[in-house]
Amino acid sequence: MKRILITGAAGFIGSNLAKGLLEKGYHVVGVDNMSQGEKLNISGLLKHPSFEIHYIDIRDEPALKVAAEGCEVVVHLAAYKIPRYTDALDTLMINSMGSESVTKVALDQGAKVVAASTSDVYGKNPDVPFSEDSNLVMGNPHVKRWAYAISKMFEEQMLFAYNQRFGVDVVPIRFFGGYGPNQNLTWWGGPQSVFINKALDNEEIEVHGDGMQTRSFTYISDHVDGIIRTIENPAANNKVFNIGNTFEISILDLAKLIWKLVRGDESPKIKLIPYSTFGKYEDVMRRIPDITRARTLLGFEPKVDLEVGLRHTIEWQVARRKELDIATSHIPDCVR
Ligand SMILES: NC(=O)c1ccc[n+]([C@@H]2O[C@H](COP(=O)([O-])OP(=O)(O)OC[C@H]3O[C@@H](n4cnc5c(N)ncnc54)[C@H](O)[C@@H]3O)[C@@H](O)[C@H]2O)c1
Repeated sequence: MKRILITGAAGFIGSNLAKGLLEKGYHVVGVDNMSQGEKLNISGLLKHPSFEIHYIDIRDEPALKVAAEGCEVVVHLAAYKIPRYTDALDTLMINSMGSESVTKVALDQGAKVVAASTSDVYGKNPDVPFSEDSNLVMGNPHVKRWAYAISKMFEEQMLFAYNQRFGVDVVPIRFFGGYGPNQNLTWWGGPQSVFINKALDNEEIEVHGDGMQTRSFTYISDHVDGIIRTIENPAANNKVFNIGNTFEISILDLAKLIWKLVRGDESPKIKLIPYSTFGKYEDVMRRIPDITRARTLLGFEPKVDLEVGLRHTIEWQVARRKELDIATSHIPDCVR
């Protein structure tokens, strides 16, 4: 049975990937320092005989080495996302130094590294859809949000440099807007998490700017499918991949859709929040992946339509709020 190490296993993508790999018969070794992980995400996995978890930091190389023993693949998902939550130093250091520790340990094991990058690396490039060869365009250096994209750009370049010097196989994946069960219920989990909570609570959904900025949202089973294809198919080795859904929606329309799914015909409560309230900030105005490479080389095709995925997610979020003792007076029709 193949052993696979997942860093960030108690997080959103990590816990779903662990479940998917266990179902396929892999032995999964999870690593998480629980800084953003959620115990409920892994409580079911802990009962599985082929799952183990090490509560360690990825920067603790000796401990990581012990966890990685015998692993043939390392899926590196542990990271610090939104810099505006902190002073950006955690984002920069965990995603750079931490990623190097993970790569060194994988090299020591002779394991392939599949690592999470992000669609945010395309930054302000206006030419959508983004192919993997598109330019990565960063903005004003005083805007903290770019620390995240820059940390992931460093990670991608570091992985390819390790491949060139030491021959370790690497696959950076640029994910586009994941959502679904086990998502973090704050902005850490993305706008859809927060919008669902607001609609359940019958509170105003706060939309940044004029809401015309667009994103593409990918249901978690499609992300997991894409990751597993990069793990199993040697054609993925040493290439970067966009993994995501190509359906584009504005954030304002996302807010309206979620309101409708949660509260039916009630008139949507939506408030536009000027970007100036975040201090110095720059947004990405359009973000859509070109997934030709993943389609052609890996046979990847996103399957879950946004509305269908959101219904599942709303149903899950109502249940998760119950587990966390968050009062929910309104049960949406789509959950009944
Ligand atoms: N969710 C998305 O849509 C999305 C989009 C683009 C990129 N990504 C990338 O995919 C990866 C997974 O994202 P996610 O949404 O599951 O995030 P998440 O925050 O839910 O999961 C990350 C996990 O890593 C753990 N972690 C953080 N720092 C750690 C450290 N120093 N040592 C050990 N564990 C640590 C956290 O506790 C958390 O459980 C991240 O690298 C993220 O940047 C995600």
